[in-house]
Amino acid sequence: MIISLISSKGGTAKTTSSIYLACAAHSANPDLDIRLIDADPQQSALDWADTASRSSDGLPFPVFVANDAQIGNLTDDGLTIIDTAPSFTTLTRTIIGKSDLCIITASPTPLDIRRAWKTVNVCGDKAAILITRANTRTKDFRETLASLREDGANFFDTVIRSSVHYSQAFGTNPRKLYDYAQAWQEIREATNGIE
Ligand SMILES: Nc1ncnc2c1ncn2[C@@H]1O[C@H](COP(=O)(O)OP(=O)(O)O)[C@@H](O)[C@H]1O
Ligand SMILES: [Mg+2]
Repeated sequence: MIISLISSKGGTAKTTSSIYLACAAHSANPDLDIRLIDADPQQSALDWADTASRSSDGLPFPVFVANDAQIGNLTDDGLTIIDTAPSFTTLTRTIIGKSDLCIITASPTPLDIRRAWKTVNVCGDKAAILITRANTRTKDFRETLASLREDGANFFDTVIRSSVHYSQAFGTNPRKLYDYAQAWQEIREATNGIE
């Protein structure tokens, strides 16, 4: 299965979500063959992995970069998670074409949701919006959920709350997966149980 994390905006937690979802998949099934592809030229996921391995608690899956041709040739063995750049390029289209599921990350603000819809419209049926960095007590959050429901969006029931647990995890191998454990569970159920 190939899962990509996409949004045309930076700072919506694509990289954080890529790492945590791969960790959650590994935690749910340590035998699953997992790889994370860093398709963002800024290489934040690779930087995260290198920093973790230098601290001798490396991530339990390989993280590497791949070009358009390599992504085009990906097979769907095990689990491949692709972290993408905050721009919409030819590579993004290749990634969308190869993905079984495109997770569109968005924080619960009207601007992020507008941008998310544009990406959803490109990804079509494969798209599911994941609300990230949410402060669930705010009016923005409640209104975002109401508008997604009203507009018939395909979105995760799981919401990734705003927390320093995530922002301070850069460069570590996170073992407490918090909301991402539940998000991974939701993916497994929605995709009829990747093991
Ligand atoms: N749930 C969260 N709560 C608080 N901060 C978060 C959360 N998720 C990500 N962050 C922080 O937000 C910033 C952007 O996250 P990042 O994953 O790099 O986004 P992107 O890859 O979309 O640019 C980083 O500083 C990260 O640590
Ligand atoms: Mg990133």
